[in-house]
Amino acid sequence: MQDTNCRLTPEEIRQRALELGDWFHNIDLRGVQTAPHHFLGDYPAVKWNQFADALPADLRGKTVLDIGCNAGFYSIEMKRRGADRVLGIDFDETYLEQARFAAELCGVDIELRMLSVYDVADLGETFDLVLFMGVLYHLRHPLLALDLIHEHVVKDLFVFQSLQRGSPEVEALQENYPFQEQEIFEREGFPRLHFIEKRYSDDQTNWWIPNRACSEAMLRSAGFEILDHPEEEVFICRRGDTTGASGAVYPARGRMRD
Ligand SMILES: C[S@@+](CC[C@H](N)C(=O)[O-])C[C@H]1O[C@@H](n2cnc3c(N)ncnc32)[C@H](O)[C@@H]1O
Repeated sequence: MQDTNCRLTPEEIRQRALELGDWFHNIDLRGVQTAPHHFLGDYPAVKWNQFADALPADLRGKTVLDIGCNAGFYSIEMKRRGADRVLGIDFDETYLEQARFAAELCGVDIELRMLSVYDVADLGETFDLVLFMGVLYHLRHPLLALDLIHEHVVKDLFVFQSLQRGSPEVEALQENYPFQEQEIFEREGFPRLHFIEKRYSDDQTNWWIPNRACSEAMLRSAGFEILDHPEEEVFICRRGDTTGASGAVYPARGRMRD
């Protein structure tokens, strides 16, 4: 920990946290809450408490990638479980600054890097555990992101969370339907990705919100096997070897061979 932050009084921590901008993560920094008035309550602790037991308690010997890490709440928790290495990436430097400060005050050593999910291939390595929490619906190209994550960075486990709207039902679907079939699209449990052209919850970065069936279908289509569903928005997956869509590789395989 940097000496300067190590010696901060609670009032100085509060002041520094304020200077780092609006926090989405409420993190306890030695008694100082970073987002005490979060609209979702004590977030993301309230979410984490619902699925924490579904992840390995001991991560010693494991590497972790936290995509869209924000102020580092989940990265810090993974390090607290003993992970050898935790890398948090986010495309927003303001959040990464918050994460650096939070990690220092929590006394954990995590790596942080400004990187978009669309550029995960640049990491050039795979990780035992990849977290992709609360990011999908902020993307204009969500399936591309899942394809890239599957292709380039997930070695084993993948933990996914998305805001979901619409029915929680999941319809058992056939492999194929004739062109004349229309009724299936009316069913509540058919996969639906709701497009937000303007704003949802005052947030112009909410673009696509899946129902539960769609979250599951997109995960499978990107090549993930769903192992567990410990919380309504959280899916624990394992990397499958094949993707449903051929050619879901970027750049194109043909170009890579050139
Ligand atoms: C709703 S927050 C979720 C934060 C954290 N993962 C969680 O679950 O609490 C979404 C985060 O994703 C980040 N993000 C959005 N689009 C991104 C992108 N294309 N690449 C990397 N991070 C992105 C945002 O900056 C923000 O920190």
